[in-house]
Amino acid sequence: MFYQKVLVTGGAGFIGSNFIRHFLNQNKGPSKVLNLDLLTYAGNPENLKEFSSDNRYQFIHGDIADQTLVAKLLKEHQIQAILNFAAESHVDRSIDSAEPFFQTNVIGTLRLLETARTYWKSLPPKEASEFRFLHVSTDEVYGSLSSEDPAFQETTPFAPNSPYAASKAASDHLVRSFHHTHGLPTLTTNCSNNYGPYQFPEKLIPLVILNALDEKNLPIYGDGKNIRDWLFVEDHCVAITSVLQEGKVGETYNVGGKAETTNLQIVDTLCALLDELQPRQNGKSYLDLKTFVKDRPGHDRRYSINFEKIHHQLKWTPQENLATGLRKTVQWYLSHREWCTQITETKYSRDRLGGNH
Ligand code: NAD
Ligand code: DAU
Repeated sequence: MFYQKVLVTGGAGFIGSNFIRHFLNQNKGPSKVLNLDLLTYAGNPENLKEFSSDNRYQFIHGDIADQTLVAKLLKEHQIQAILNFAAESHVDRSIDSAEPFFQTNVIGTLRLLETARTYWKSLPPKEASEFRFLHVSTDEVYGSLSSEDPAFQETTPFAPNSPYAASKAASDHLVRSFHHTHGLPTLTTNCSNNYGPYQFPEKLIPLVILNALDEKNLPIYGDGKNIRDWLFVEDHCVAITSVLQEGKVGETYNVGGKAETTNLQIVDTLCALLDELQPRQNGKSYLDLKTFVKDRPGHDRRYSINFEKIHHQLKWTPQENLATGLRKTVQWYLSHREWCTQITETKYSRDRLGGNH
């Protein structure tokens, strides 16, 4: 099924904005994308400014928890699918203050599910059978792995360790329950660490790039040997599109980048790319800026994703490798300094750049 009229929540953030760009660039025919975003510190309508006069795209400033607003949008635009990206997404912030995470990730998702259910029940049978609620989640719901453990599968029991992960796990359970109890046609994706253009510079990769360019320390938590699997955001957008179009209702799909790497390796690679593409004026390597800092409390050691299910069922596989993906990402940040400055000067408390707890 090709979905033409979709409601994307959190589309002014990193992955949501990349998804909307991907969707509109892939679908040249008539379509409508509503982007409902609360514009928290992480939301930036500038991420999609090239579509501001495109009548296929409409931005709505609002909260996923606002049931009156969401019900009106669904009905007025005869929405065929909801893609829920809206969330508080940064682990460190959830350690500082967990409540906003439960407000949006849990209560917000619950209200969005309720509103979707009421709308879905009002649809004629054909439209109701085609309707989808796709929930974007994370591999962090599965907890932490040792170096010997097998990768996370869709059947791995949940063991969230941070308040952020706990709020996402709760939202995943809610989605599951709305399918099981009410029959709502849901889909859930659990992906690994995304990277690429438009990522807010509180996350490791953009933080390291921007700190390096500003001649600031590159903070490495603990011993730097924690492992993440890195997924280029464009690959993630393709995966979400496949799940939306062909995924089996009620199922969850793991999405990974086949790129397990220590944080130290990531920082070293970024420094080497910057040394090549934007050498320091003092002739030294950016590696000199590496600084080991106090570890994140409860820091998960390793994430690893088994994505056999989406690979076999939907023929999806990541196309980007880490070397080319990181190069593209560094090049994007180098050529979008204004975007970065606007964020660091207006949306963001500077003390978070380079600090931890
Ligand atoms: P982000 O923080 O960059 O963007 C989140 C967006 O949601 C922002 O635009 C924000 O304004 C909006 N938002 C927050 N609360 C809202 C509310 N109540 N109503 C409407 N909009 C609201 O996040 P991201 O990195 O793009 O992540 C998107 C989704 O993917 C999240 O659900 C996250 O948990 C999940 N995820 C992210 C990653 C990653 O590596 N970034 C990995 C796995 C899963
Ligand atoms: O695994 C998916 C998750 O990936 C998503 O669900 C989250 O929304 C997303 O933020 C991300 O979580 P992480 O905590 O893994 O991402 P972050 O970029 O914050 O950190 C990546 C690794 O780098 C992690 O091991 C902590 C470490 N780190 C992070 C920062 C910000 C540092 O060493 N120094 C830093 O300054």
